Amino acid sequence: GSSVPVPCLSCALSPWQALELAEQFDPDELRRVVLALALQQRRCVPLLRALSYHLLQKPAELPLPVLTDLLFAYSKLSFQQPQVLHRLSLELQPHLGTLSPAQVSRCARSFASLRWLSRPLAEAIAQYSLDNAQKLSITQLCGILVSFARLNFQPSSSEEFFSMVHEQLQGQEQQLDTHLLTDVVWSLCVLQQARPPHLRQVLSPEFQARLRGDTSPRAQSSWLKLLHINATARLEAPGYQGPFLPPEVLGGDGDRDKDKEREKATPLQRGLQEALPGALGGPDLLRHNVSTVYGWDIDAEAVLDSDNKPLPVRDFTAPHLPCSEGTKPLPPGARRVAVLRWEFPQFSSRGRELLGRGSMARRHLRAAGFLLAEVPHYEFLELKLERQRVAYLKDKVAKALASDTAGDMATDTAT
Ligand SMILES: *[C@@H]1O[C@H](CO)[C@@H](O)[C@H](O)[C@H]1NC(C)=O
Ligand SMILES: *[C@@H]1O[C@H](CO)[C@@H](O)[C@H](O)[C@H]1NC(C)=O
Repeated sequence: GSSVPVPCLSCALSPWQALELAEQFDPDELRRVVLALALQQRRCVPLLRALSYHLLQKPAELPLPVLTDLLFAYSKLSFQQPQVLHRLSLELQPHLGTLSPAQVSRCARSFASLRWLSRPLAEAIAQYSLDNAQKLSITQLCGILVSFARLNFQPSSSEEFFSMVHEQLQGQEQQLDTHLLTDVVWSLCVLQQARPPHLRQVLSPEFQARLRGDTSPRAQSSWLKLLHINATARLEAPGYQGPFLPPEVLGGDGDRDKDKEREKATPLQRGLQEALPGALGGPDLLRHNVSTVYGWDIDAEAVLDSDNKPLPVRDFTAPHLPCSEGTKPLPPGARRVAVLRWEFPQFSSRGRELLGRGSMARRHLRAAGFLLAEVPHYEFLELKLERQRVAYLKDKVAKALASDTAGDMATDTAT
């Protein structure tokens, strides 16, 4: 097989033609075709489906270069095919020890960008990193760390793994570029492993100076991550003394809102906004589309008194807002409830586990005093009628309130 007509393949193929064509390929030819598509950035879905289908028909184990190149190509093309990803992770695992650190880091990043978490493989990558700590470059190790954070994966050898990471990182931070260092500290925050020196490093005025003036999308994403890191510092690092991000950087927050207005609302977002008033009350009782100082957005916010009756939300202080309209403290027994939607890409592609980002949002908002009524796409969009959606939201809020009472009772009995 050296005469694969790769450059001639085009997306003009019908699914049938693609299937027929792909049928003749051996695994190595399949590899070369997929790789060629990736290098040319041609996301030709019928062909990728046909190639995947035939790949899955090959009974023998796939050769290692086929595994690594396919994984790389699928991630470049953002093509998620669960059976193929399952097979790739399964067959890669026994070979992991023979891969170079660069290859292992690249595999980790590819799986993470496809939102694919295979726990056994991720465990093997953690073990590989421990066994090869001296051979991994700092960027390769960071690639693995960032991948784990994206997938919200905690290795079972967590203590050993992170002490190795801290040891390797120590004193090397200056080697990393601004965005990568932001990603690394953000990842440590996701995995609850950030230490005060990391927080200090990226929350310092000198570090912000490095980002200022950069208007690239990457820089915007880094600013948002810095807000999350600042939130970690204030909500999850009790001993941390500062520095913190000055409130002025939220000036960029107006841009965040403008960007969001320009984006089209998703079906989940629209459905939720329509059903919220029926579930929680009118405009006095709800604050919609809230951008918090923690860098997380809430779909709606309400304050409920001890009888679970909504109160006028704008009357009260709101430490989660850049400037709060209200001045009254919450009455005794009142609770803040945040309605939070989880879209499809916020879950791992295998199932219903939130990725690292969402799980940090959840933690931070709880630590900031919210009870969460979480609305995953797969539950809400199933409900077609407005009244079902309203009932669903009411139930979510009631459950959030009940869980809080249960929590109180647990602490009461503990003391
Ligand atoms: C960062 O946290 C500090 C300490 O809680 C807070 O005063 C500051 O306003 C926060 N910065 C931003 C941009 O929210
Ligand atoms: C919240 O944002 C969504 C999406 O941008 C929009 O459709 C909706 O009208 C907003 N709700 C309010 C009350 O501003």
